[in-house]
Amino acid sequence: MANNELTVAVLGPGGVGGLLAALLSRAGHRVICLAGAETAATLRGNGIRVRSAPFGDFTAPVEADTELREPVDACLITVKATALDAALARVPATALGDGLLVPFLNGVEHPAHLRAHYPPAQVAPAIIRVESTRVAPGVIEHGSPFAEIDVTGDPVPHERLEALAAALRAAGPTTRVLPDETAALWAKMTFLAPLALLTTRYDLPLGDVRTRHREELTALLEETAAVSRSYGGPSDPAGALARYDTFPPGTKSSMQRDAESHRPLELDAIGGALLRAAERHGIAVPVAAGLVRELEKPQAN
Ligand SMILES: NC(=O)c1ccc[n+]([C@@H]2O[C@H](COP(=O)([O-])OP(=O)(O)OC[C@H]3O[C@@H](n4cnc5c(N)ncnc54)[C@H](OP(=O)(O)O)[C@@H]3O)[C@@H](O)[C@H]2O)c1
Repeated sequence: MANNELTVAVLGPGGVGGLLAALLSRAGHRVICLAGAETAATLRGNGIRVRSAPFGDFTAPVEADTELREPVDACLITVKATALDAALARVPATALGDGLLVPFLNGVEHPAHLRAHYPPAQVAPAIIRVESTRVAPGVIEHGSPFAEIDVTGDPVPHERLEALAAALRAAGPTTRVLPDETAALWAKMTFLAPLALLTTRYDLPLGDVRTRHREELTALLEETAAVSRSYGGPSDPAGALARYDTFPPGTKSSMQRDAESHRPLELDAIGGALLRAAERHGIAVPVAAGLVRELEKPQAN
């Protein structure tokens, strides 16, 4: 990534991937979206249309294919955890060259999974705080007034992380490079897991969860913080609760939205990973375990 213009592949141009693909294209980078044949054809013909309060309403042209066929500077991975393995078939390690693989998935286990299949020093996990929805193929609604990215990757050369972060920052999102990959991933997990598990379990927005299920929320935040601490991540359950209290009462988690739309849940990548991490470090997480058990049950209707 020596010069400023990058070639970036985006595997899964949905809520997150579509937004980043369009922003990077608008900023002058070459963007190749990797998707199924129909979506790829739509994107090639129409580009990606974005509606965003902070970044404006715009349409950006992108290239699109069903598979990566040439080396790129970076391949952003923006599929859901439930689609990861199938989607990775579109990115043969031989085609990637020495490009970075940059997963934006929620959860903490996917970097090790990727490093089992691609060179470890090319896997640079990113954490994104945003609310962005793919309302139709190539049509993205960015609903949050912010988009914040942390780029990390312990074995990745620092200058490569900085170059990627600079490109993302210049394209719009507030972007930092963080030094401790595990801590960075757990920072998101400690905030996300309690919100996702409780809003989905009770099918209630955050406002109702934090009033009607406050005791359970508090206990779950403490459990998650204990696991995070054992991995060197942040541990501030009271701070997290105070932050939840500032959110609009109608806030829903994306897991809850997936449940409402009968889409597969990222339950294993979030709740399952939390339980496995707790077990590895001998930490009791009875509230999380109970919620995951309930959510694993087949839902009526
Ligand atoms: N959206 C957010 O605001 C947000 C915020 C923070 C973190 N995240 C995390 O970011 C990740 C992506 O979430 P998202 O909301 O962006 O998901 P999404 O909107 O569902 O987008 C995923 C995209 O992947 C595509 N896809 C699925 N299987 C594929 C395959 N085999 N090959 C190629 N493409 C495939 C889907 O295609 P189709 O369009 O054809 O279904 C879809 O466009 C998740 O881990 C999520 O938890 C999301």
